[in-house]
Amino acid sequence: MPISRRSFSIAAAGSLLAACSTSKEGKKFTVGMSQCNLGEPWRVQMNADVEAAAAKHPELKVLFKDAQNDTLKQRAHIEEFVSAGVDALIVTPKESQPLTEPIAKAYQAKIPVIVLDRAVVGDQFTTFIGADNRKIGRAAGEWLKKKLNGNGRIVELKGLMTSIPGQDRNQGFRDGIAGSSIEVIFEADMKWLEPDARKEMESALARFPKIDAVYAHNDPGAHGAYLAAQAAGREKDIVFVGIDALPQEGVAYVRQGILSATFQYPTGGAEAIDAVMKLRAAQTIPRQITLGSRVFTAENAAGGGEPLA
Ligand code: FRU
Repeated sequence: MPISRRSFSIAAAGSLLAACSTSKEGKKFTVGMSQCNLGEPWRVQMNADVEAAAAKHPELKVLFKDAQNDTLKQRAHIEEFVSAGVDALIVTPKESQPLTEPIAKAYQAKIPVIVLDRAVVGDQFTTFIGADNRKIGRAAGEWLKKKLNGNGRIVELKGLMTSIPGQDRNQGFRDGIAGSSIEVIFEADMKWLEPDARKEMESALARFPKIDAVYAHNDPGAHGAYLAAQAAGREKDIVFVGIDALPQEGVAYVRQGILSATFQYPTGGAEAIDAVMKLRAAQTIPRQITLGSRVFTAENAAGGGEPLA
């Protein structure tokens, strides 16, 4: 059956469902949720969002697996879900390249696959749901350019560079500061992890007597950098910017004056369940669902931030 690049025709999954409705009469529609790790609050929130959205549909049952930040484990989890005959898969992959193959195999086995937050290579999945990381990175760059009057020395603490959000948040940021006198004097891959960010920032502080700002690819990274600067007595001289903007994490840091800005990266959990329900009802869904973002600063946080242009 030809599958258009822009929209997933549900004919294949529809025939699978028809087969299921005789063999699985009365059974729940089972969704396998492959989470790459639950070590960060953002991912705990994503699972909670999936669970809360699914709870509104008693006909759904979501099975959660946590790969604990281990790519091989996540590959195995996807294969296990396929062998178990789940009706749909939601995968939020640790890395793009190594997760591409098991996702493609599940899709070729006619299981609808929703790829959430971190993209994979190619088009062998049903839909990708996530915010535009390139746009978020560019907005962070433009925001810092304005804040520093087009001039300053920046530390960039990057997310895992084998994941597409890390690559896009880096490229977007570089586009955002282009044409200014801002200089990235230190950059390191902190792999999305607060302790790694803190360590990298300690090195940056030891090497550079003047740092004007830190751009971290997520709020845990920005917070780790802040703690390192605080331990060195230099946190007041540095502007900290992060990404995620969870109310209890990044937005709270902004309200406490720890971060100057955070850019929202929505989990997409509710949208993933929405997509599952549409696929279950044999509706066509777009190949890509792009979520919006907001910026939170000291000035606008109380009012719920501002949408990105
Ligand atoms: C959590 C996380 C978030 C980040 C997202 C990117 O694992 O690092 O902080 O925004 O993943 O995929």
